[in-house]
Amino acid sequence: MELLLDRLTKQYGSKIAVDCVSATLKPGVYGLLGANGAGKTTLMRMLCAILESTSGEVLLNGKEITSLGAAYRNVLGYLPQDFGYYPNYTAMEFLMYVAALKGIPKDMAKKRANELLEVVGLSNVANKKVKTFSGGMKQRVGIAQALLNNPGILILDEPTAGLDPKERVRFRNLLSEYAGDKIVILSTHIVSDVEAIADEVLLMKKGKFVLQGTVQKLTEKANGKVWELTVSPSEARKWQARTTVANLRHEGKDMVLRIVSDNMPSKQAVPCEATLEDLYLYYFPTEEGGQ
Ligand SMILES: Nc1ncnc2c1ncn2[C@@H]1O[C@H](COP(=O)(O)OP(=O)(O)OP(=O)(O)O)[C@@H](O)[C@H]1O
Ligand SMILES: [Mg+2]
Repeated sequence: MELLLDRLTKQYGSKIAVDCVSATLKPGVYGLLGANGAGKTTLMRMLCAILESTSGEVLLNGKEITSLGAAYRNVLGYLPQDFGYYPNYTAMEFLMYVAALKGIPKDMAKKRANELLEVVGLSNVANKKVKTFSGGMKQRVGIAQALLNNPGILILDEPTAGLDPKERVRFRNLLSEYAGDKIVILSTHIVSDVEAIADEVLLMKKGKFVLQGTVQKLTEKANGKVWELTVSPSEARKWQARTTVANLRHEGKDMVLRIVSDNMPSKQAVPCEATLEDLYLYYFPTEEGGQ
């Protein structure tokens, strides 16, 4: 299976939200990272064929996805960023409803819904109304509905938002197990989730892919750019104003800063091992990065 993005572009008026993006996606987990407004949701909606591109196309095994119609929807699972729930449905009713929309036969749907509620840890509340659920529980219903048809292409827009640490780990494990021979694309702002499960990272900035590669390869790019520096609290403020400080913590009266910088920021700075988050900060040093 291969999903080919060929110069995919989306323009809203004069705003280019996705700018001539090309990539070849094969089975595996892809982590889409980028600041607010970078174009992740717009790209994912085009990959789901629910948003028409301004130009360029998406091909599944050589065939344009919009021409595949139902055949494409049958292999697709999607969790939108702004997922709408029906508050008066129970979790089970909701999954059965989505299964009906997807054309899954009732018996099969019931079995699958039960399995998935177990998988996302909601079996004990299967018959409770979704409106009584916490944010993270609703999110897990959303994850379950995306998996109902056992999709070969799974697109998840910020699936881990709102999940507590234990549920995030459970979700990451589920996704890694699920991936195998499938194409999974997830966007998230939680860099550690991408670091943990993505085979490949796509870093998006202002509508373009600025970096693409394995976590290890990309993290290596930040090596030699990350430093630890111990300073007084008043100096810490000055450093924050003029450099990218990835982290700061108290150590006695001093502060230890983690600085991302091309050059050694000071003679006292000690180099340290980079993480994917450091690389992200290197590419998005300030609040900009989106549009
Ligand atoms: N329907 C629309 N009409 C006009 N502009 C839009 C529309 N949808 C998105 N945009 C713009 O396109 C750009 C990309 O938005 P998009 O929602 O794809 O970003 P994102 O990377 O998903 O951001 P976030 O991390 O906040 O979810 C933004 O500048 C946004 O304002
Ligand atoms: Mg988005």
